[in-house]
Amino acid sequence: MSLNAVVVDSLTRRGPYQGDALWTVENHAKYSTLQPPSDPAQDHRIHHQIFLLMCALNEQGIGADGLCTDRQGHGSLKSLLTQLTQRLAALSDGNHVHYVELGPEPVKTRCILARLTRAAATLRYTAIDINSTSEPAMRATLMPIIADPARFHYLAADYRSVTQETLRHDQDLTLITMFGFQEGNEPPAATGRLIRTLADERTCIISEMQMYEEGLESCITAFYAHPGMRQFSSLVALQQGFVALGDHHVHLVRLKIGGELLHVAVTLQPVEQRQQRGYLLTNCCIKYTPEQFRRVRRLHGNCTVLDELASGDGSVRCQIAQHLPSP
Ligand SMILES: C[S@@+](CC[C@H](N)C(=O)[O-])C[C@H]1O[C@@H](n2cnc3c(N)ncnc32)[C@H](O)[C@@H]1O
Repeated sequence: MSLNAVVVDSLTRRGPYQGDALWTVENHAKYSTLQPPSDPAQDHRIHHQIFLLMCALNEQGIGADGLCTDRQGHGSLKSLLTQLTQRLAALSDGNHVHYVELGPEPVKTRCILARLTRAAATLRYTAIDINSTSEPAMRATLMPIIADPARFHYLAADYRSVTQETLRHDQDLTLITMFGFQEGNEPPAATGRLIRTLADERTCIISEMQMYEEGLESCITAFYAHPGMRQFSSLVALQQGFVALGDHHVHLVRLKIGGELLHVAVTLQPVEQRQQRGYLLTNCCIKYTPEQFRRVRRLHGNCTVLDELASGDGSVRCQIAQHLPSP
């Protein structure tokens, strides 16, 4: 059962949406430009707007000094990115590095790669995205840093269809990144499968996730109440042929998935389609506890966690995990 299906089942069977019409949209349908648009007049404008929205969120996220800090104002997202960059530079030092970005975005990547090109002996970059509208921005932002066109690669593909062989080159180390709470969109077993398919024993997986812990609920709801996230929901509704009615609703639901009790943030956009009103589930994102975040990586990804960095308020964590040789 997909994450969406489990969420809908829970909301309609027991939750506040009993009796309501609930529509869902799979990740693939939301982001993918790999098929021609159903409405040729639309081309992929909405996909590009979704990409730009994520860029703007990242720009604001690392531009604001006070975001996700502790009470003393320390540990902003910007400083978390700086720390992560330092750790990745230390891992890359003197090595031939392949940096593989799943679901690319230019803002954080520009900062990281500017440092890694100085640390690594050579740096090869590969972006993999089902939303091919990200390519021009990624190329324009990163080419001045990477310099050699032969070292910049962009795959317009579903990362679930890519294999280790595609990524294997002459590198000493492969860094595979999943930023922007991205792995929260998939059940832990699916992310584990993805990691095991893409990684070899010289691969580290870098993931940025928003955490669930008692006291952090307001950080989660505040993130989804952001105007950018609300706009994301109304764009997805428009893309799927609905009329959006007002702002999305945000809920943090508890679900059992694969035997584990997980917290999932969901956004429901009130919509109308052919005179029927209801809600479109525009996003589901798992929020692991710090302990679950480590455990799923070990359990499903065959990885050992090397390092963890947290924002001052503890709401965002970056994890560096090393993939282990197959037993
Ligand atoms: C939540 S956004 C995160 C974007 C970015 N990593 C960030 O930090 O802001 C998810 C991204 O993953 C891409 N994506 C989602 N599913 C994908 C798939 N199956 N294959 C390739 N890319 C995918 C989307 O196009 C989107 O760019």
